[in-house]
Amino acid sequence: MHRINIHSLLSKHWLNALLLLIAFSLLPAPYPLPPAFAVPTHLDRSKVPQGCGACHKGHGQRGTLMLNSPEVSLCFKCHGFSRKGTPGESLTDIYSVINKPSNHPVIDTAGYHMPGETLPEKNPATPRHVSCYDCHNPHESTKGKPFKGINGYSGKGARSRHGAEKEYEVCYLCHSDSANLPSGETNIALDFDTSNPSYHPVENYGKGKSVPSLLRQYNTSSIITCSDCHGNDDPSGPKGPHGSIYSPILRDRYDIQPVAESPSAYRLCYSCHDRNSILGDESFKAHKRHIVYSETPCIACHDAHGSRIYPALIRFDDRLVTPNSMGELTYMPFIPGKPRCFLSCHVNGVNYEHRLTNGQYCINADCSPGW
Ligand code: HEC
Ligand code: HEC
Ligand code: HEC
Ligand code: HEC
Ligand code: HEC
Ligand code: HEC
Ligand code: HEC
Repeated sequence: MHRINIHSLLSKHWLNALLLLIAFSLLPAPYPLPPAFAVPTHLDRSKVPQGCGACHKGHGQRGTLMLNSPEVSLCFKCHGFSRKGTPGESLTDIYSVINKPSNHPVIDTAGYHMPGETLPEKNPATPRHVSCYDCHNPHESTKGKPFKGINGYSGKGARSRHGAEKEYEVCYLCHSDSANLPSGETNIALDFDTSNPSYHPVENYGKGKSVPSLLRQYNTSSIITCSDCHGNDDPSGPKGPHGSIYSPILRDRYDIQPVAESPSAYRLCYSCHDRNSILGDESFKAHKRHIVYSETPCIACHDAHGSRIYPALIRFDDRLVTPNSMGELTYMPFIPGKPRCFLSCHVNGVNYEHRLTNGQYCINADCSPGW
């Protein structure tokens, strides 16, 4: 449940909280906040001069916690595109971002948010929703700590008791064990499980020991966040996974159909992995052959999150990859950089059969790779 951080002064009881709200609206500024705390942005009179009244009023909108606007439009009063920038008010325009083609459906589904709800959702019949308040607590959010006061979920039934410490714990509230996941959406926590043979280092350090393509600012002890990949495509716009022109809410382009390779087609990956290293075959000795000559997208072989069975984020995309004529569909790491794959791959109308022929590893009739 969202709580205001002056909570220690309050009773948990609802009625008391509301009485307090009324009392607060009569109090002169500044509020008697414990001095040890950084003042949350929305309770800071220098940033929000109207105080509680910026969002609450006596009776409020029906069905809300005495809010002065319906839930969806409340935040857009200050975080909307029409904001003139009245002194002290925000100019961060989330409205335009959340209306991009791929987005968190706040405008359509925020109405299903219930104050005090417990996520992940246990009832499959409950409509799926996401509101600004699911990711931000307006009473506690502080510059640089936009999730302060949001309860987290770290997967496998574990709740973060004192609020989310890591961003992914906010995401797992709705993208892991939710009983109402739409068909086609998966439990993302299983992808990043640190017991997997490989995963991008979100929950903890990765298992990749040799990742020669990493750009200088990263190494094998780096930790990255969901929003390093899921966010606004406009690098100068507001940060966060509100919306993007690239689906699913990706910060940059990541083509999943066979296309001619270019710096832009896989720019999401190339923002952390050096294109020259990948196409220079520094790790996998047949990267260039696949990516450039056969126009095979990264997704044919890699899962951007993690792999539950193989190292190097290997998970074959079943749209392009099927069992070979022997019925095999496996990845064998074999010699570093020279793995063996037993499968059939269809790209741009060509079928590439990967199998042993007379004891030799061959791609169709070509047995020249010789590894
Ligand atoms: C930026 C907007 C905003 C401001 C400013 C604000 N609130 Fe709220 N408040 C909300 C929203 C939104 C909710 C409902 C949260 C939900 O539905 O989960 C809420 C809920 C509450 C509740 C219900 C219990 C709870 O904690 O969820 C109380 C009590 C409350 N606010 C008191 C205050 C007081 C007192 C102030 C001034 C010190 C204040 N609020 C300032 C937006 C605001
Ligand atoms: C009365 C104006 C006002 C309203 C209403 C308002 N905000 Fe803000 N908000 C601000 C200001 C001012 C800032 C600081 C400057 C900026 O980010 O533009 C801010 C910053 C933020 C931040 C950045 C982190 C931080 O705490 O500094 C988040 C997240 C945020 N607001 C969420 C919300 C949500 C969610 C709502 C709706 C419940 C909301 N705001 C409603 C004025 C407002
Ligand atoms: C309160 C619930 C909630 C939370 C918390 C939440 N999401 Fe979502 N998310 C949704 C809903 C609802 C959708 C719309 C599609 C669906 O139902 O899954 C969505 C869609 C997405 C999509 C696009 C999926 C697609 O197929 O188009 C991405 C990516 C995403 N969320 C990432 C995140 C990240 C990253 C976080 C944490 C910072 C997060 N979400 C937190 C509810 C949530
Ligand atoms: C390294 C980049 C990267 C990171 C980090 C990342 N994602 Fe993704 N995510 C992607 C890409 C690319 C896709 C689309 C391709 C795909 O589905 O494999 C995707 C797809 C998704 C989808 C929609 C498809 C589905 O399986 O439901 C959701 C939801 C999602 N990610 C949530 C998250 C969450 C939550 C986190 C953090 C715990 C996260 N992602 C971290 C790159 C990333
Ligand atoms: C925000 C930075 C970032 C982005 C974006 C990113 N990666 Fe990574 N990636 C890393 C880091 C850091 C590691 C090293 C983790 C480790 O040592 O296991 C890594 C490791 C890998 C590995 C090796 C994993 C292993 O266990 O051997 C593969 C494969 C990989 N990334 C593929 C991709 C692909 C494909 C994309 C685009 C969808 C991508 N990465 C986007 C940061 C990123
Ligand atoms: C799915 C979770 C999620 C939802 C829903 C969401 N946000 Fe955010 N928001 C984030 C994350 C994550 C960040 C911070 C990203 C970072 O700092 O890298 C953020 C950042 C912000 C910021 C600061 C932006 C900046 O550049 O400093 C504001 C303001 C904000 N959100 C307001 C809102 C408002 C208003 C809504 C509802 C319309 C909303 N958010 C809905 C996750 C969410
Ligand atoms: C045909 C399958 C295939 C395709 C397509 C592919 N990869 Fe790989 N990739 C591999 C294999 C196999 C390895 C592991 C090689 C080894 O360690 O023996 C690997 C390793 C990696 C690594 C970790 C080692 C390193 O070089 O740092 C990264 C990062 C990576 N690939 C990124 C990408 C990106 C980005 C794309 C798309 C532009 C891509 N890969 C396309 C098969 C593929």
